[in-house]
Amino acid sequence: MYIGVLWDGIEKCCLIVTKLSVTKITTNFREAVNVVDVPLTPPSDDQILLKNIYAGVNATDVNITAARYFTDGKLPFDCGLEALGVIEAVGKNVTTHKVGQPAIVFGTVPKAYAEYLYAKPDEVIPIPSLKPEFIGLLVCGLTVTIGLDEVGRIKKGEKVLITASAGGTGHIGVQWAKQKGAYVIGMTSSDEKAKLLKELGTDRVINYKTENLDEVLTKEFPNGVDVIWETIGGEVFKTLFKHLAPKGRLIIVGGISGYKGDGFPDVQIPHLNTTLLMKNQTLSGLLLTGYSDLFPKYLKQLVGDVVSNKLRVVLDFGQKSSEGEFNGIDSVVRGVEHLQSGRNTGKVVIKIQNP
Ligand SMILES: NC(=O)c1ccc[n+]([C@@H]2O[C@H](COP(=O)([O-])OP(=O)(O)OC[C@H]3O[C@@H](n4cnc5c(N)ncnc54)[C@H](OP(=O)(O)O)[C@@H]3O)[C@@H](O)[C@H]2O)c1
Repeated sequence: MYIGVLWDGIEKCCLIVTKLSVTKITTNFREAVNVVDVPLTPPSDDQILLKNIYAGVNATDVNITAARYFTDGKLPFDCGLEALGVIEAVGKNVTTHKVGQPAIVFGTVPKAYAEYLYAKPDEVIPIPSLKPEFIGLLVCGLTVTIGLDEVGRIKKGEKVLITASAGGTGHIGVQWAKQKGAYVIGMTSSDEKAKLLKELGTDRVINYKTENLDEVLTKEFPNGVDVIWETIGGEVFKTLFKHLAPKGRLIIVGGISGYKGDGFPDVQIPHLNTTLLMKNQTLSGLLLTGYSDLFPKYLKQLVGDVVSNKLRVVLDFGQKSSEGEFNGIDSVVRGVEHLQSGRNTGKVVIKIQNP
């Protein structure tokens, strides 16, 4: 909620920001957060104040409320990884950014579930417009493009399998791998999502609810899969590893099947070292924050691809959810639960407020 005009003859007590505050450490997002109102103050000399228009929802939001990473767990703390909005004010030492510029904010301190947020200049990336699609390029777009290129080292003609391929991260990965000339196998849970994946160029969609993953891979890909983008964990990880081709690369990106429970599911694979050695295979972990040096290069390309319509970013504002679209801070809980239920298609986005 924002009442009045910023600092122009208005008492500071009239300027209120609504945001989410984590007040309990738990993976149950609804129980973890409270909606709170705080006074809106001018940015400090080295800060930028962003009026937040869209916030991106991420699978890992529940890991953050569980204090598994990104926070020391000292309550209360803020949450939300990605914001897209307009620069409202800049501190007097900030010369790199201008008021009125559309920008995205992404940093290692979560704070995006708020109507206004303060950021350091290096966390604020100018974008051409307030097109909400740009928010899909941050955590999701950067992770999957940097991951497939730098860690997966995908090559033309290789078989690339993407888990959660119709989700925020996966559907960008499908298009990136197709652009590189790969044969793309996408895993998903519904015929509706399978339809989208076909539109995006996926060569073989496996609906793991109606088809047996192990049987499909055994029958249709007897020589294995070259690159596996693994975000599920547990039994899915084990099954996929069984089908990794000689010289194949399996990228460990997440373990969503365990997020609401004990966290990343532990996997025991007998004779792992011997298998990797004998088949020249690679198992690699990937955490986006370790690749920040590559963000400018990849974001430039991704933004350009969206502007030129080479990349389609599918947004899920909750338009098909039972209680309707995600509008306002109050709706963030529903957005997070929508993603965690697996019902989302594409990137889940909250419209925080009008520009
Ligand atoms: N390492 C990193 O730096 C990094 C960065 C970004 C994302 N990630 C990881 O990438 C994955 C996707 O993240 P995202 O934010 O883009 O989410 P998302 O893919 O938009 O949503 C999650 C999707 O996972 C699938 N899923 C499969 N098993 C599930 C389960 N047990 N519970 C809930 N969903 C399940 C669902 O799709 P189907 O119904 O189609 O299976 C669901 O739509 C997550 O594992 C996340 O942690 C990691």
